Amino acid sequence: MKYENVKYEVRDGIAYCTISRPDVLNALNVQTVLEIMALFSRAKSEEEIGGVILTGEGEKAFVAGADIGELSMQKSISGKEFAVRGQQVLNFIEDLGKPVIAAVNGYALGGGCEIAMACHIRVASESAKFGQPEVNLGIIPGYGGTQRLPRLVGMGRAMELILTGEIIDAQEAYRIGLVNKVVPKKELIPTSEEILRKIMSKGPVAIKLAIEAVSHGTRMPLSEGLLLEADLFGLTCGTEDMKEGTKAFLEKRKAHFKGK
Ligand code: COA
Repeated sequence: MKYENVKYEVRDGIAYCTISRPDVLNALNVQTVLEIMALFSRAKSEEEIGGVILTGEGEKAFVAGADIGELSMQKSISGKEFAVRGQQVLNFIEDLGKPVIAAVNGYALGGGCEIAMACHIRVASESAKFGQPEVNLGIIPGYGGTQRLPRLVGMGRAMELILTGEIIDAQEAYRIGLVNKVVPKKELIPTSEEILRKIMSKGPVAIKLAIEAVSHGTRMPLSEGLLLEADLFGLTCGTEDMKEGTKAFLEKRKAHFKGK
C-alpha cells in the first residue's frame, strides 16, 4: 500500500509512525485513518517490531482533530459510521499487543487527543496542547473521547473538558494525568524511545498480556476484571519467559527473554 498521509520507518525494532498532513495540522481525514490502520497492522504483524512511537509531522501539531471539511458532510447514519470506523482503528491501536507511545509534539485536539489516549503512554513536548473541542462544532467526541478521557483523568475533569471544549497546555495535562511526562521538544522522541526500550527489555508475552489485562480489565466489572487478570497471570506462568525470568533472578543474572 502506498501511503499519502502517514510515514513509517523502522529502526532497531521500533516502528515510527508519523501522521503527515502538515498543511491542515495533521487533521484526520478518512484516507489518513485507513492509512493509520494499515501502518499499525504492519507493526503488529512484523515480528521484529517491539513497539511503536506515534507522532505528528512538523512543529505545530500532533493531530488537530478530524478533518472538519469531511466532517461537515456527515449526516446521522454516515456520522455514526464515521465514528465507528475511527473507534475501530483506535481500538486496534490499544489492543495491538505491543506497546505504543504517543509522542505529542503540538496540538492534540478532538481525534488527536483521542488517538493519543488510545496509545498506552503519552509523552508531551512543552508546547503540546490538548482538548476535546467538538462542542464548538455542535458535535460530541466520536473516536472514544467520552469513554477514554474519564477513565484517564476522572469523570469531573473529563466532563469539564468535554462540555467547555477548553484547550489545556501540557503542564495541565500532566497535572490531571492525561500525559505521563512533559519534556522539551528536542527530548520528545529520545524520551519516548527510552521508555519504549525499557518496556521492550521485558518479556514480550508479559507486556502483551499486561496491556490486555489493563485495557480489557478496566472495561469490565471488578470481579470479571480480576478473573481476567488471574487467567492471564496463569498464562504467563506457563511461558518460557517466566521460567527464564525467575531463574535469572535466582541466579543473580540478567534475564534473556524470547517472547515464548
Ligand atoms: N480540520 C481541517 N483543517 C484544519 C483542522 C481540522 N481539524 N485544524 C486546522 N486545520 C487547518 C486550518 O483550516 C488552516 O488551513 P488554511 O491554512 O487553509 O487556512 C490550517 O490547518 C492551519 O490552521 P490555523 O487554524 O490557521 O492555525 P492556528 O494556529 O490559527 O490555530 C488551531 C490552530 C488548532 C487552534 C485551529 O486550527 C483549530 O481550532 N483547529 C480545529 C480544532 C478542532 O476543532 N478539532 C476537532 C475537530 S472534531
